[in-house]
Amino acid sequence: MYCFRGLAFDVSQCIEVRGIKKTYGKVTALDGVSFSIPCGERWCLLGPNGAGKSTMLKLIVGLLKPDAGTIEVGGAQPVSKEAKAKLGYLPEDATPYLTLSVRENLEYMGALRGVPDLRTRVDYLLEFLELAQYQNSKVSALSRGNRQKLALALAVIHSPNILLLDEPLNYLDIPTQEKAISLLGSVDATLLVSTHIMSIAERLTSKALIITRGKIVWSGKIEELKSLGSSDEPIESIVARIMVKGV
Ligand SMILES: Nc1ncnc2c1ncn2[C@@H]1O[C@H](COP(=O)(O)OP(=O)(O)OP(=O)(O)O)[C@@H](O)[C@H]1O
Ligand SMILES: [Mg+2]
Repeated sequence: MYCFRGLAFDVSQCIEVRGIKKTYGKVTALDGVSFSIPCGERWCLLGPNGAGKSTMLKLIVGLLKPDAGTIEVGGAQPVSKEAKAKLGYLPEDATPYLTLSVRENLEYMGALRGVPDLRTRVDYLLEFLELAQYQNSKVSALSRGNRQKLALALAVIHSPNILLLDEPLNYLDIPTQEKAISLLGSVDATLLVSTHIMSIAERLTSKALIITRGKIVWSGKIEELKSLGSSDEPIESIVARIMVKGV
């Protein structure tokens, strides 16, 4: 039994991925991926375009089924109610309900998620992400950045135990990126975040998985990753080298 945020888990691994293979027709997106993320840890998922990051996140949240291998989320199948209750997910190119207003999207998702004191939570997120002025606007009328802010709020509205984020700071202006980092940094969740921006990875997480052509090529602490280069080598250069050539 493992305790995290006052909840008892039967497992110490909040995300357990074993031998995952996933193809789309003739394209192999994931080719035997295995990793575990202990409860309470914060990991980033790095990899070049087309490496399989978004596919991996969709498999963990149960939107896709693997061709082979198993995934457990808090000890449960990704498609189970137990797993879904623990998960929060920000998809890449997230599109909230276009015909609902910003507030309606938050209230609808919050009600589905059983958020207590929903009005206070919605007001807080609207205020924090500076969306209050758009709360009655239809999502179809929002700028792309404001849609992304709403999508972030929808991913965290229920204070999930396990949070998966696919390029969370896409489209956000620099002040809003800072707000989003502050919001996500304060979320008390096991985190897996896919990003191409190393400063985001370093500020939000302490461990990294690097995936290239559907295989994990490196995993460990970001501090260890830095030590693979010379003292003045930027971390982006180290990561790029591993993505292309391996360690
Ligand atoms: N719905 C789909 N149909 C067919 N092929 C797909 C589909 N989704 C992804 N792929 C392919 O699977 C591979 C992995 O894609 P995925 O979107 O997981 O990569 P990614 O690491 O998230 O890339 P990016 O950094 O560009 O977001 C790519 O070759 C991609 O073209
Ligand atoms: Mg992607």
